[in-house]
Amino acid sequence: MLKLLWLTPFVLLYKYLTPKVKKDKVITIPVDKLPLNSAYLIKDKQIGILNGKEGITVLSIACTHLGCVLNVENDKFICPCHGSTFDLQGNVLKGPALKPLKHIDYTIQNNNIIIHL
Ligand code: FES
Repeated sequence: MLKLLWLTPFVLLYKYLTPKVKKDKVITIPVDKLPLNSAYLIKDKQIGILNGKEGITVLSIACTHLGCVLNVENDKFICPCHGSTFDLQGNVLKGPALKPLKHIDYTIQNNNIIIHL
């Protein structure tokens, strides 16, 4: 047993350097849960789902400045950390964030919004 102890640092180094493979995660939201002109935020997944005039939009609600989770107020996403503001399409209205919010692909199947994370 002690003869194999010298392997421990190499095993730990291998585990540290090997990328973690994320499991495919799916979020399913019934379309009925999103009335027209509404927003549904899944804060623990940092996802915002909007149902507006242009249809359904799915955005990351992680602020592009330093990653705080955004709130939605008066047709805007507002960052509670440093005040960046985004419109409902994810465009920056006010910094310090410089990049727009990331749009997330989704599909609709059997009247459900399917989001693959
Ligand atoms: S993390 Fe949002 S403005 Fe800084």
